[in-house]
Amino acid sequence: MTILGIETSCDETAVAIVEGENNHVELKANILATSLALHAKTGGIIPEQAAREQIKYILPALKQTLKKAFDTPDTSDTFDTFKNIDAIAVTYGPGLIGSLLVGVETAKTLAFALNKPIIPVNHMIGHIYANWLIANSQQPIANIQFPLLALVVSGGHTDLLLMKKHGDFKLLGGTRDDAAGEAFDKIGRMLGLAYPAGPEIEGLAKKGNPKRFRFPRPLLHEDTYEFSFSGLKTAVLRQIQQLKKFLSPSRREGQSEDEKLDNQTIADLARSTQDAIIDVLVKKTLRAAKEYNVKSILLSGGVSANQTLRKAFELEARSSKLDAKIFAPAKNLCTDNGAMIASAAYFNFNPVPWKDITADPELYFE
Ligand code: KG4
Ligand code: ZN
Repeated sequence: MTILGIETSCDETAVAIVEGENNHVELKANILATSLALHAKTGGIIPEQAAREQIKYILPALKQTLKKAFDTPDTSDTFDTFKNIDAIAVTYGPGLIGSLLVGVETAKTLAFALNKPIIPVNHMIGHIYANWLIANSQQPIANIQFPLLALVVSGGHTDLLLMKKHGDFKLLGGTRDDAAGEAFDKIGRMLGLAYPAGPEIEGLAKKGNPKRFRFPRPLLHEDTYEFSFSGLKTAVLRQIQQLKKFLSPSRREGQSEDEKLDNQTIADLARSTQDAIIDVLVKKTLRAAKEYNVKSILLSGGVSANQTLRKAFELEARSSKLDAKIFAPAKNLCTDNGAMIASAAYFNFNPVPWKDITADPELYFE
């Protein structure tokens, strides 16, 4: 089955075509247009601006995806190849309303005009399904087995779910305040790094001294699978303020904010921030894996692109003699993309009348 996936919940305009077969989904084309460069300058996403860019990008992204998937020569009418698509999948939430609307309205129009089935997909569930994607027929198919735990760690969410089969999601815990990616981004901003800061913190952490600072691991030892990262953010902020005061002790409080931390201190802070986030994510997830006796653990979302996080999961699982196998999508499929949305639709094929689909910015797990 050939599915077109459209994802525009945040700053990306992502379109993909996948081919689903038995228990895996093969990538045929995966196109991404991003307005990240605009947002890097402002330190975060300006929703209105993101949506305006998406309106510009959506049709060219669609055309490029069809061209890549069906290998059409430049001269032919690319939109003719829509006939090869069996269904359309689209993210309908959660996300920014203006951004979601671009994808949802485009997908509904296509479904109506081409008379194709349309499947609305929850963005967070899409992230999980990136684990079933393979780049080409040469790549081995991931042997994912149920019951499984899915940890979604993105810029907006930190959710731990138990899945007994496709489409069956039990939320064990979410974040009470900041998401893991949000913590990386906000702390990165304090350190003077560009948005999104996760990848840069990962790079800096490699040069950082793990012993110089130690930040709290919120809710680590409490009997809950919920997460909380805002206390970590405050602890890092206090540490930075203290370091800056030390840099210029003669100045009055408040005036030392302009002082710049040296590169080694930034790397040390990055290292301890990352260590604290990883420690909480790994230990809580593995505790749940034991409690629910799962066979697989699926990492997903932008933060799961972090290689140090993946290694920590592998190491800790081995040292605690856990049988569950750990999976994570290819790095470029951890962050937002259209293929994961199409993959989720393939495994949960529930088309609805296009008129019934509305963007839902607050969507969570039903
Ligand atoms: O899943 P995603 O692309 O968008 C949302 O649905 O939110 O995740 C984006 C988040 C950002 O917060 C970004 O800083 C984080 O993922 N991220 C990382 C890494 N790559 C992206 N965090 C830590 N290490 C990384 N290598
Ligand atoms: Zn996402």
